[in-house]
Amino acid sequence: MPGTPNPLSDMANLKSTVVTKDERPNPSFQDTALPGFKKTVRGRRAIRIFDGNPIPEDVMRDCLRDAVLAPSASNLQSYELIWVRDDDVKKQIAGLCLDQPSVTTAGDLVVVVSRVDLWRSHLEKLVALMTEDGKKPLKGPIRDYYENIVPMLMRTDRFGFNNFFRRVMFWYKRRSEPTVNEPIRRADHRVYGHIQASLAAENLMLSLAAHGYESCPVGGIDKRAIGTLLNIPSSGEVTMVIGAGTGKPEGLFSARLRLPYDDLVREV
Ligand SMILES: Cc1cc2nc3c(=O)[nH]c(=O)nc-3n(C[C@H](O)[C@H](O)[C@H](O)COP(=O)(O)O)c2cc1C
Repeated sequence: MPGTPNPLSDMANLKSTVVTKDERPNPSFQDTALPGFKKTVRGRRAIRIFDGNPIPEDVMRDCLRDAVLAPSASNLQSYELIWVRDDDVKKQIAGLCLDQPSVTTAGDLVVVVSRVDLWRSHLEKLVALMTEDGKKPLKGPIRDYYENIVPMLMRTDRFGFNNFFRRVMFWYKRRSEPTVNEPIRRADHRVYGHIQASLAAENLMLSLAAHGYESCPVGGIDKRAIGTLLNIPSSGEVTMVIGAGTGKPEGLFSARLRLPYDDLVREV
């Protein structure tokens, strides 16, 4: 809201904010970053047949590091990226992806998982980073945000007391001012988690493309069984599996199709 200070703005003072002014987007990016970005975004396609060779480990790790740079709500990073390296587990996952060739032929597999259930431990770790392990305690609005507001939004209980509390509180507040109106229920938390996981997934696929590798996101899969296989608790959920590697020419099934721009973008 205009005029309302953003509690996260206090983070600007943190040492861990390592992106220097010159590294942040500025007009020079049009010469340096834009050509590569266009090439990457336009070159990425869903590739469904790979040559089966693994991507070099250091490349995979670099791509996964780019993936976790994705933005996330409250910076809670409520997801997990599981790089499946064990051949036997890979085979089992391929079966649970209905033997789709984008998975059976992939050199590497990453299972993208929504982990809203980890909110409390992620919050504790984040606060430890922000406070340098408690040496520089948070103050003012950012303290209120991470100590009170985030737990209020994320907390759940078996009987739905927290959901009820949020519903009443949002309703009451909205009578006098614009108010955040989710998450309330489990369904909202599920959406929340899949949003964060999907943003990381897109970063991963774009980074793979920028490194010269191809990928395919796969969602038509047995997510529950994959979750069980990977010991993901029932409160976490598989968002998608990403098959990656060197694509074969026949792995590109069609020309790129998109609805007309005006059907997807509205200017008001
Ligand atoms: C969440 C999600 C789930 C998808 N699931 C599948 C899938 O199960 N099988 C498949 O072949 N492609 C799948 N795709 C790939 C899409 O079909 C593909 O991205 C779309 O047709 C556009 O093509 P493009 O990515 O080459 O531009 C999925 C994509 C997304 C984002």
